[in-house]
Parts: sequence; structure tokens; C-alpha cells
Amino acid sequence: MRIEPFLVEQWMNAHETTATWNIAETCVHSLTLEELLELSGDADAVSQALRETWLGYGDIVGSPRLRRAIAALYGERIGADNVLTANGAIGANFLALYALTEPGTTVVSVQPTYQQLYAVPASLGADVRAVRLREEDAYLPDPEAIRAAAGEKTGLIILNNPNNPTGALVDEPLLREIVEIAREHDAWLLCDEVYRMLEHEAGARPPSVVDLYDKGVSSGSMSKSYSLAGLRTGWVAGPAEAVRRCLDVRDYTTISGGVLDDALAAVALEHVDAVLERSLAIVRGNLAVVDDWISREPQLRYVRPRAGTTALIRYECDVPSVDFCQGLFDLNGAFVVPGAAFGEEGSFRLGYACARHVLEGGLAAISAYLRTLE
Ligand SMILES: Cc1ncc(COP(=O)(O)O)c(C=O)c1O
Repeated sequence: MRIEPFLVEQWMNAHETTATWNIAETCVHSLTLEELLELSGDADAVSQALRETWLGYGDIVGSPRLRRAIAALYGERIGADNVLTANGAIGANFLALYALTEPGTTVVSVQPTYQQLYAVPASLGADVRAVRLREEDAYLPDPEAIRAAAGEKTGLIILNNPNNPTGALVDEPLLREIVEIAREHDAWLLCDEVYRMLEHEAGARPPSVVDLYDKGVSSGSMSKSYSLAGLRTGWVAGPAEAVRRCLDVRDYTTISGGVLDDALAAVALEHVDAVLERSLAIVRGNLAVVDDWISREPQLRYVRPRAGTTALIRYECDVPSVDFCQGLFDLNGAFVVPGAAFGEEGSFRLGYACARHVLEGGLAAISAYLRTLE
């Protein structure tokens, strides 16, 4: 089996520990353990419970407590038994992609998105067809393009809502159109929903695909919206058949998640309103800073993100995006991801959910770099 190099992860690995201004990161500025305990409102009881935790494998599929808390993020179709924990959303995606792809199946995936979502099915021998999200469509998928790519028979359609890198958000009516296409093919519809809950506008949250379609499968994690990437806890949520197939794969990769990670993820989701209030304040406040900055940089433009933590920013100068980003890094240590990692030349991905001073320092560093290119 051959798999394409994972460009965004390779770029992150190469630069993130030495960057002065890391504005490539996609997580909401992570919490410390201390902050999470404070957020729980009962730090003493939570730390005592952690001390008493039995350090065996724990519940193989994830604790009932955590799976119940995850299920509560969805509508009534999803109960604790429809949830399987995984090693982050990257682990969850891998399980779902492996479980739902057969060699020769047609798989339709939006692009740009997280490369794993289309590289894994391709490596498994699927016929992967890209549906490009275009700037002129505000990076929203065109249902007719999905229908055309699906051809006569498609086994799996892949979405990422809200989208990384563009921050685009597919609202319910468009989601329902895509569900209809999946239904026509009796296909699985996998949606990477790792940025769900980070819709910037109040009331703008579309349903999960699992709430719209009986073959809808959602992947999510504690990393981005809940600012707890270090717990390495994600999940697949979906109908019983999908969860069973994912568990068949997971038996070969995971055994169980970490019991301390599981317990802390449960604490966070049991206080989900407080966690999200913090996360939304960070993304909304920081996006206003980005907006103001872009309006003062004539060489740059973007489609303002509606959700998530990232924006795809296009620049005017004629420099390949890897050179652009490396030049920036070398000049003043500001770290963004080249659009080439997403098949989007002439652009870079900004992650704006970091600490405010890092964002401001990083944007000023990009401005200084742009002056050197004029
Ligand atoms: C769309 C998307 N899916 C999955 C992941 C993996 O996240 P996790 O840390 O939960 O494994 C990322 C990380 O950047 C992502 O952007």
C-alpha cells in the first residue's frame, strides 16, 4: 500500500516547535489542566477522582460517561452506543475511512480539506473524485458538481463542515441537498465535524450529518472547538452498522483510549457551555483582529470565515506558496501553512485561534514581510 505524504502535517512538524509566531495552529488556544479543573467548578473533587482512577485499559470502546457526553452533542438518533472513541479526530477519520471504503468504490470528497480525508481512501484503492470548493462560491460545495462526480454509483461522500482551511460553513438546506445525493446512491456520508460548535454567528449551527441521514457518520474530537488537543480523544458517531465496522478496524489499532484522557474529556463535555463560551470568545475576538488587518493589506484578500479557526488568505505577488511561507518564516519566524498543502497555490492558511498576542505579533510579522516583497 502506498500513501501520499501528508503535506500539512509534514509542514507543521518541520516548523511548529521553532516558530516565533505560530499562526498555523488550528486548535483554539489550549487549556491547561489547571484551567480545566477550574472550569469544572469543583477542582478538588475532579482531581481526587483522577487520583483514584484505576490505570488499566478501562472501557474498551470509551467510558459510558464520555460516550453519553459525546452523544449529547448530537440529536436523538445518537445515543452512547452510537459513539466510539478514537485517538483524536485523525484516529476517528482513519477508522471511518478504512471501515467504509472498498477497493474500487467511488469516493467523492470536497477539496480543499484535511488531506487525510481523500488520501486514505485513495491508498485503499478507491476511485477518489475531488469536488473543488471555489473562492467565487465562497468555498461552498456545488451539489451539481457532487452529483456529476458521483457518476452512476458512489459508495462514500466526504465533507468537512466547518471546513479546514477556508472556514466555510455549509448550512442546513445545502447539507440536505447533499444528503439527497448520498441517498440516491445509498452511499455513506462522512462529515469531519471537528470544528463543529465554532460557528461564529449565534444561531448559525447546522445539524450534524448524523441527524439528517441514516447513513451519516460524524467524526469529531476534543482538539479544536474544546481546546484540549493534548487529550488525544476523538470519536466516530453514527448508525450501529458504521460503528460496528469501525470497531472491527479499531481492534487492530487502539485497544482502548487513555483512561485519564477519557475522564478529562468527560469533565470538559459535562461543562461544554463554559468551554465553548471561552472558545467562541477567542475565535470571534481574534477574527475581528484579522478582519481589520486584512482591510489594511491591499495585497491580501479572503472569504471571511463563518466558523472554525482557520482562513485561506490569497496574496497578489507571483511567488509559489511554499517559497512565500518559507521566506516569511526565515525573515521573522512567522509560521503559516502554504496553500500548496491544500492544492491552493497563491494562498496560505492562517490559524487565528491562538493567544491574542501571538496573533497580533504574527500578523505584524506578515505585514513586515509583505513590505519586503513590494
Ligand atoms: C479537519 C481536521 N480533521 C481532523 C484533524 C485532526 O485532529 P485531532 O487533533 O483531533 O486528531 C484536524 C487537525 O488539524 C483537522 O483540521
